[in-house]
Amino acid sequence: MDLKGSKVLVIGGSGFIGSAIVRRLIAEDVKEIIIYDNFVRGKYENINDCLTDSRVRVYEFGGDIRDIDILDDAMKGVDYVFHLAAMWLLHCKDYPRTAFEVNIAGTFNVLEACVRNKVKKLVYSSSASVYGDALEVPMTENHPFNNKNFYGATKIAGEAMCTAYNDRYGLPVVGLRYMNVYGPGQDQHAAYTGVIPIMLNKIDMNESPLINGDGTQAYDFIYVDDVADCNISALKSAMNLGFYNVGTGVQTTIKELCDLILKLKGTDLKVRFKPYDADDARQFVKNRIAALKRRKRKSTLNMVFHWKKACLN
Ligand SMILES: NC(=O)c1ccc[n+]([C@@H]2O[C@H](COP(=O)([O-])OP(=O)(O)OC[C@H]3O[C@@H](n4cnc5c(N)ncnc54)[C@H](O)[C@@H]3O)[C@@H](O)[C@H]2O)c1
Repeated sequence: MDLKGSKVLVIGGSGFIGSAIVRRLIAEDVKEIIIYDNFVRGKYENINDCLTDSRVRVYEFGGDIRDIDILDDAMKGVDYVFHLAAMWLLHCKDYPRTAFEVNIAGTFNVLEACVRNKVKKLVYSSSASVYGDALEVPMTENHPFNNKNFYGATKIAGEAMCTAYNDRYGLPVVGLRYMNVYGPGQDQHAAYTGVIPIMLNKIDMNESPLINGDGTQAYDFIYVDDVADCNISALKSAMNLGFYNVGTGVQTTIKELCDLILKLKGTDLKVRFKPYDADDARQFVKNRIAALKRRKRKSTLNMVFHWKKACLN
């Protein structure tokens, strides 16, 4: 795809990842970049620097994907769309109906508006949450959808609708399944990556960072600008339909992460560990035992010991 002279709509463009995509798009030879966002989580401070470029503007008549008429109007003459608007994992858990309206019905509206306005390609922000707990590692794109939470369910539905729209109307779509995205401007309430700003804030207050459990929980962390680059590459690619993991393939434990942050900050503070509360500990042990069983390892005794210790403390 040639972006030269094109008009691009970034839905969710004032959010953490969306604003990084807008920044990347500015470096491209595009004619116009429109940010469509209801600012429920997005912020002007994420995009103020972008708005100094005359090609960038916020869609002026609102910006909620639940409003098909406004969305349709915003998409007039648009060549390419990035769709990042979504409710987050923890919000989906607390407000499943709103999550359905935004993540599923809203994505349906985006697809419909794309077809109606003859958009040339859509890049959809999915999530590695579609896989749920790992049944096998590494978690490739062929990993089964083992998700059990509502957020992951909405992303599975979003992907399925993308496939159906591609098949029925020929809309080119690439879906990206992000791992845990970190970087400047991220929210410290994010489900897993929130640990990074929380640690940084603690260190800035000269307090030791606190880890729940023993710090062996491991995640694939990826930097936000790399995710933005993947979005641009997905758009430019000749791919007509596909869903891809976006991660580093490297697992980092919370303890390793914390040690690295302490080292980079050049502080003498030491990491502290807090036992899981009983409920978390039980869930943690349940997950770990299931994971160990799956990997056909014999001994779960060590985990049981941790759990008992955590509950006694
Ligand atoms: N951050 C991560 O680690 C991560 C991991 C996997 C997937 N994702 C997905 O990537 C996308 C972007 O995530 P993010 O971290 O930038 O989150 P974010 O909350 O910062 O960005 C989402 C943006 O969408 C906007 N939005 C929400 N509801 C809307 C609605 N109804 N209409 C219009 N705009 C609306 C918000 O205001 C926000 O600006 C999301 O779809 C998310 O599910 C993120």
